[in-house]
Amino acid sequence: MSISVDDRFLDSASAADELAEDARTGLAGTPKSLPPRWFYDARGSELFEQITELPEYYPTRTEAQILRAHADDIAAAAPVETVIELGSGSSTKTQLLLDAWQRAGTLRRIITVDVSASALADAAVGLSARYPAATVLPIRADFTRHLDGLAKSGRTAVVFLGSTIGNLDPAERAAFFGGVRSALDPGDVLLLGTDLVKPAEILVPAYDDAAGVTAAFNLNVLHVLNRELDGDLPVEAFEHRAVWNPVAERIEMRLRATREIRARLSRIGMPVHFDAGEELLTEISSKFRRDGITAELASAGLRLTHWWTDPAKLFALSLSH
Ligand code: SAH
Ligand code: AVI
Repeated sequence: MSISVDDRFLDSASAADELAEDARTGLAGTPKSLPPRWFYDARGSELFEQITELPEYYPTRTEAQILRAHADDIAAAAPVETVIELGSGSSTKTQLLLDAWQRAGTLRRIITVDVSASALADAAVGLSARYPAATVLPIRADFTRHLDGLAKSGRTAVVFLGSTIGNLDPAERAAFFGGVRSALDPGDVLLLGTDLVKPAEILVPAYDDAAGVTAAFNLNVLHVLNRELDGDLPVEAFEHRAVWNPVAERIEMRLRATREIRARLSRIGMPVHFDAGEELLTEISSKFRRDGITAELASAGLRLTHWWTDPAKLFALSLSH
């Protein structure tokens, strides 16, 4: 069985135009950067799933551990009928939560929101089989731009797992939380997963694993550029880097040119030049402290009411309204 993905906010043509725009602005000057959403074509979504299984990548299994321990507490604190999951990916861990809302007897509607059409389509099949009494609506959209267009009904939980919030910079987070705040009605909640600050000895290997899966995930963005914009970037001439920035308290994923590169994105007629050693910033992954995230939420008018963490305090889930 397949469920059609609603792509009225974002279809393949508009995504390609947006990539062209991001490439024009992000690859022209110095320092070079691209938004992390471009990792996630079908291959990138698959590689992310492999990352979640790596021994070094603790966030997914730790968040699942917290959900296993507290999903029923979350369902009791927020007896909702609609769940809107942002950046839903495979929605695997989400099932721990949805099971709890199903046990509580409130669940009617599951709306998944992601830029990855393949991830949405694959996940929707499993969700509709597991929750036959709920309507499953997969929507291809950008959670930084399309939140206000998502029609919700009944008490709603906006669920944002995996610490994907950490892939936004502080200004983008402020705008995102403001958008969530405006979308919430009384009785609605935001359930947010945040990865916590910890020693670099744990963080760096999580983003530079021994098997090289994160390197392949990072390099995949070059394949996306070449395919979508008819480019000739030499993927083998770049190397993966994961650097802990202790001031901003974030991992920075970069691609470093191992030699001078002169390439071209033919679809947009754009020459791309890298000096030897020049880096492209492909992702930030910010790590949080309880006080900091509470203050960021409060600045957007959201009050944090619950905080759950694992025994080693690696990761946290919070509920706000
Ligand atoms: N929530 C899942 C997946 C996290 S990976 C988990 O916790 O394991 C991040 C997900 O967010 C990917 O599926 C990616 O396609 C999606 N994503 C990234 N940027 C996005 C954006 N701007 N709008 C919507 N989805 C986005
Ligand atoms: C989706 N996001 C929260 C992941 C992270 O940890 O920042 C993406 C990722 N990048 C490298 N590994 C995983």
